[in-house]
Amino acid sequence: MRFACATVFLLAAILGAQAVDWSSVKNMNIEVPVPNIHPRSVPNGRITNGELAKPQQFPYQVGLLLYLQGGAAWCGGTIISDRWIVTAAHCTDSLTTGVDVYLGAWDRTDAKEVGQQIIFVETKNVIVHEDWIPETITNDISLIKLPVPIEFNDYIQPAKLPVKSNTYQTYAGESAIASGWGKISDSATGATDKLQYAVAPIMNNSGCSPWYAGLVVSTNICIKTTGGISTCNGDSGGPLVIDGTLIGATSFGIAFGCEKGWPGVFTRITSYLDWIEAKSEVANYGN
Ligand SMILES: *[C@@H]1O[C@H](CO)[C@@H](O)[C@H](O)[C@H]1NC(C)=O
Repeated sequence: MRFACATVFLLAAILGAQAVDWSSVKNMNIEVPVPNIHPRSVPNGRITNGELAKPQQFPYQVGLLLYLQGGAAWCGGTIISDRWIVTAAHCTDSLTTGVDVYLGAWDRTDAKEVGQQIIFVETKNVIVHEDWIPETITNDISLIKLPVPIEFNDYIQPAKLPVKSNTYQTYAGESAIASGWGKISDSATGATDKLQYAVAPIMNNSGCSPWYAGLVVSTNICIKTTGGISTCNGDSGGPLVIDGTLIGATSFGIAFGCEKGWPGVFTRITSYLDWIEAKSEVANYGN
C-alpha cells in the first residue's frame, strides 16, 4: 500500500532524576502522509474551538509519560476502572522500563497540583493488542494495568465503556468530546501544560475513509474537523467521549489534522469490547 506508512514522531529526551524536562518530552502523534485523492480547500484560520478544560472536568483523562529508548514521549489515556487504563498501541509498543501514569492532572507540569497522582507502571503490565499493525495503524489499542487499585475522587473517575449490546452503534452525527494535552496549533512545537478539549461531530466511516486511502477501517471512528474546528488538542491514546462513555482512543490524523480540516481518526472502542473484557474483566452490560 502506497500510503500506509506512518511515522511516529519522537524526540529524544534526557530525563532528569526528579523533575521532568517538559521541553524535551515530545507529544506522540502519528502523522500519515496523504495522497491528494480528496482535494479540498484547506481552511486557513487558527483553531478556535479548542478550549481550556477546568480542573475536574475530565476526571477520566490520564496523561502518560512513556519511557522509550533514548528519551520520553507523551500520550493520553482513559481510566475505565480502578485498575485499568485504555490507550493506543502506538504509544506503548516500544516502552523500555515502563510508563508514568498521571491521574487527576490538569496542569501536568505542576507536580504539586492538588488531586494529581503519578503512578509508575512497568512494561510487563502493559498489554498491547496482539494484532497491532503499525504499518496500517490497525488495532491501535492497549491496556495499562495499575499496580494497585486507585481510589476515585473528584479528580479521578472512570469513563464508562459502551454497553456490550451497543456494539453496532455508529454514533454518526453525535457530538463527542476529545481531550488531551496535545498541540494547540500546527505551529506549536510541543504539548501544552494544561488540559484542553474540543467538541466535534462524529462522521460516518464512508465519509471518513476516502480521506485516508484505506487506512480507515471499521474499527476506526472519525470526527469532523472542517471549517477550522479542530480537536488538535487531543493526544494520541486519549479519550473521545459521549456522555461519559468512551467511544474512541486517539489514533492518527494529518499532523493530527489540526488546522488542515482532515478528519481525526480514533480506535473505535465498540470494536474492542470483547478484547478489553478478556484482558481486564472490565465490561458494561448495562442494566
Ligand atoms: C455518511 O455521511 C454523509 C455526510 O453526512 C452522508 O451524505 C451519507 O449519506 C452518510 N452515509 C451513510 C451510509 O450513512
